[in-house]
Amino acid sequence: MKITPSILNVDFAELGAEIRRVPSADGIHLDIMDNHFVPNLTFGLPVVQSLRKVSTQPYDLHLMIEDADRWAPVYAAESGAETITFHVEASKAPIRLARELRKLKVRAAMGLKPATPIEPYADMIVELDQILIMSVEPGFGAQKFLDVVLPKIRRTREIIRNSGAQIAIQVDGGVSVETIGRCAAAGADVFVAGSAVYAATDPDAAVAELRKLASIACGC
Ligand code: DX5
Ligand code: ZN
Repeated sequence: MKITPSILNVDFAELGAEIRRVPSADGIHLDIMDNHFVPNLTFGLPVVQSLRKVSTQPYDLHLMIEDADRWAPVYAAESGAETITFHVEASKAPIRLARELRKLKVRAAMGLKPATPIEPYADMIVELDQILIMSVEPGFGAQKFLDVVLPKIRRTREIIRNSGAQIAIQVDGGVSVETIGRCAAAGADVFVAGSAVYAATDPDAAVAELRKLASIACGC
């Protein structure tokens, strides 16, 4: 059970310091938005490269950008991040892209918006190290968790089990002490939490609490 806090809703003037507030996190989730794929704009490669220097934790880039086939390999080659997540809705050739990412020695991850089904991609998931299932419409932090994605998490876990591959399922959006148990019980094992971590007085303690609740719910 891994907790990867999102820094989307922190003070952007203090990004480095905010990352240092969660030393026990399993990774740091960075939301890259281009104002086209989603109606919001955050930061790009130069900021990620600077942030890379403030921590040795694994970085996980969530690319909410158009033309993923062109840009995801650039982030893979130049950001220093361990995991690169592209959105399948923004890729014309997800198999080629996943292979290209792995060739660049990063973990290849594919994101699905809440209404995007997993079934059309069942045969290609072996090309991936992680599947990100959005549990809010991408673009903003602190939105309400969409329970309708839980059956998709269960079906994705089943598809992964049948494939025989080791693939993580990351849930992103509205993950909190109220919702994390349901996600873990459905088969997720990596959890993005933005507001649930950073609204807490002690963000690092919030990470530990979320991890504990996820472990209890999955019985692992
Ligand atoms: C939303 C982002 C999420 C967001 C999560 O589009 O992808 O990573 O920051 O924030 P919370 O946990 O507050 O929903
Ligand atoms: Zn995200």
